Amino acid sequence: MNKKIKVLAISTSPRKNGNSEILLNSFLKGAEEKNAEIEIIRLSELNIKPWLKPDYNTNSFNSLDEKNIYTELKNADIVVISSPVYFASLPAQLKALIEQAQPIWNDRVFNNINYRNKMADGYFLCVEGSNNKIFFENAKREIKVFFKTVNINYIDDVFCYQVNDVGDINKKKVTLYRAYEIGKISVDQFLSNDHAVK
Ligand SMILES: Cc1cc2nc3c(=O)[nH]c(=O)nc-3n(C[C@H](O)[C@H](O)[C@H](O)COP(=O)(O)O)c2cc1C
Repeated sequence: MNKKIKVLAISTSPRKNGNSEILLNSFLKGAEEKNAEIEIIRLSELNIKPWLKPDYNTNSFNSLDEKNIYTELKNADIVVISSPVYFASLPAQLKALIEQAQPIWNDRVFNNINYRNKMADGYFLCVEGSNNKIFFENAKREIKVFFKTVNINYIDDVFCYQVNDVGDINKKKVTLYRAYEIGKISVDQFLSNDHAVK
């Protein structure tokens, strides 16, 4: 039997079943139909801290939570991050997780050591209350830098405008369907992609 494709889903919002999590669930439904193994991490339930160490070259993580997430990230074939826009970009809890990649960035840039020995595929799902394209671009730029640091190819994204209250996104049928389709395609796409580390 073929090995199952592992999908790691990182959900950023503190609102369980909020708009970004509903969008994520659509993506995961698609991936699950393709027999992927799914793991969901909800960032707001963890104790993730921003980078607070004066030593920028240290190799240690702040807490077990960060260590565990970075272990999961390393083992995933597909990584999907879902997030709301907060103040024109990523929420602090996601930014904090990203900052904890600093030891990995150091290894990559100064020691020529890669975090993974094969590239994963990465997807970004993002929602906002307003209708501002720049906010998604801000968020996407940070996710792209993060993905590059941890050897993940940025494959695709789904952005959803003008959703504020929990469940507003249920009216955005086309967007939800797009996330579902991308989730479904993600598994076949992973199997056909080149995963050589760049
Ligand atoms: C702290 C905070 C900051 C926000 N900043 C923005 C913003 O800058 N632009 C925007 O369009 N929406 C902003 N929003 C609205 C959320 O992006 C929106 O409500 C979204 O649907 C929440 O997704 P969720 O249900 O997955 O948490 C903000 C919400 C919060 C709580």
